[in-house]
Amino acid sequence: MPDLSLFHFYFFLTLAAGFIIGVIVGSYALSQGFASYEYLCTHDEQQFVNSTEVVDTTSDIASSTILNDPLALGPSVLDLASMAWNESLGFGDVLYVSMPDRTDRQDAMNLAASMSGFKLRLIDGVDGNSVSPKAIPDDEDFKWVKLNPSEVGCWRAHVNAWRYVLDSNLETALIIEDDIDWDKNIHKVLQDLSLQMQNNTLRRVLPTDHERTSAPYGLDWDVLFMGQCNDQAYPNRRDLVQAYDDPNVPSRKDTEVPFLNQMASLGIEGDDVGKKRLLSPAYGPACTMGYAITRRGAQRLLLHLSYMRLRGPVDLDIMWNLQDGNIRGYTVTPPLFAAWRVGGQKDSDNKPAPNMTISGNGNKGGWSRNIKTSARLAMVNELAMDNWKDYMNKGTGPEKQINEREMEVHN
Ligand SMILES: *[C@@H]1O[C@H](CO)[C@@H](O)[C@H](O)[C@H]1NC(C)=O
Ligand SMILES: *[C@@H]1O[C@H](CO)[C@@H](O)[C@H](O)[C@H]1NC(C)=O
Ligand SMILES: *[C@@H]1O[C@H](CO)[C@@H](O)[C@H](O)[C@H]1NC(C)=O
Ligand SMILES: *[C@@H]1O[C@H](CO)[C@@H](O)[C@H](O)[C@H]1NC(C)=O
Repeated sequence: MPDLSLFHFYFFLTLAAGFIIGVIVGSYALSQGFASYEYLCTHDEQQFVNSTEVVDTTSDIASSTILNDPLALGPSVLDLASMAWNESLGFGDVLYVSMPDRTDRQDAMNLAASMSGFKLRLIDGVDGNSVSPKAIPDDEDFKWVKLNPSEVGCWRAHVNAWRYVLDSNLETALIIEDDIDWDKNIHKVLQDLSLQMQNNTLRRVLPTDHERTSAPYGLDWDVLFMGQCNDQAYPNRRDLVQAYDDPNVPSRKDTEVPFLNQMASLGIEGDDVGKKRLLSPAYGPACTMGYAITRRGAQRLLLHLSYMRLRGPVDLDIMWNLQDGNIRGYTVTPPLFAAWRVGGQKDSDNKPAPNMTISGNGNKGGWSRNIKTSARLAMVNELAMDNWKDYMNKGTGPEKQINEREMEVHN
């Protein structure tokens, strides 16, 4: 088990090396006019957080409690978990961040959410150039990361979402970005997560009566990561993991390497990959495509990423605060929300689009990783029809429907 300071040293060495590689790769890609895949809040996080750490699967993995029998939890637990089926997925609200002019992405999100049976509230994305330099907190100790305007805008939009949680008296909120995908069975996936979180063996304090009756995911956390693009478990306590069966987990082939590595580091390997999801203390998540916060989480994030200072891009500073122990959270692995990638510079909200004729196939050619049954792909099939063929098919015309209705009335 590496000593913590040594680990930090290597970690930052990796960050620095990754940053340099990122700048070189990024400028090469731009100079070649390559279409890069863009998330709303893209920065070179892949380069920042690539872990060179060798996964030591022989480390001391304590036997984790595996709860696969929801019925054993009793009826009230099941009732609470069924809240995951409501219009805000069992959270106080579902907020999504989108630049006001990206009505195309807003259309897509509204459509996909309506097909999946939940509602969204828009939090306007922010143009970083509109943020006064005076309004950007800085930190004397950590000036090596100079934020670009898109990183400033991304930070600002997420801070506004945290403020919304406080202003609206929400107990929790799910915050997502506008360029993502999720599993078609998202309610069931979250119901299964709720069952686990109601008997969370990783919590530090016993659930209050209020949590037992009203909080499907508990309230003992500040942030709950469900849409990270890269991750790493806390190296000093690899015994802290709760693994559970989830029929909607992506197969090994559909799971990206950082998550396979993380699962292996927590003792989930072989046949368990593609069957189990993990809940573990959040330590190294990057990207802000999907995460929930509690009210206390909104307060801690505002404190550490605005009032006190800001050390870098919003997702990395959340990660650093997790690593410093300033905020507490859990990570769900593999994640439940993933980037919907359509390619093409036209799609970027961050990088200039020097030649708008360079574009991909848009949503028609889009794809996502780490999702078993893509909600975006599924909705295209669910809405597909062949109207005139239906008319031509004998036996499925209005006569039949009238008969069925009559039968319902008689029964
Ligand atoms: C980061 O990891 C990915 C996947 O493991 C790899 O494709 C990529 O080249 C790595 N980037 C750097 C900068 O090492
Ligand atoms: C929660 O899990 C523990 C094992 O860690 C088990 O003993 C307990 O019965 C479970 N709680 C409920 C409500 O079933
Ligand atoms: C969904 O359930 C959560 C948890 O009980 C609750 O806070 C939220 O208000 C509910 N949403 C709706 C739309 O009823
Ligand atoms: C834009 O790209 C197209 C196709 O690649 C090319 O024909 C055109 O000359 C480019 N325009 C500019 C202004 O670079």
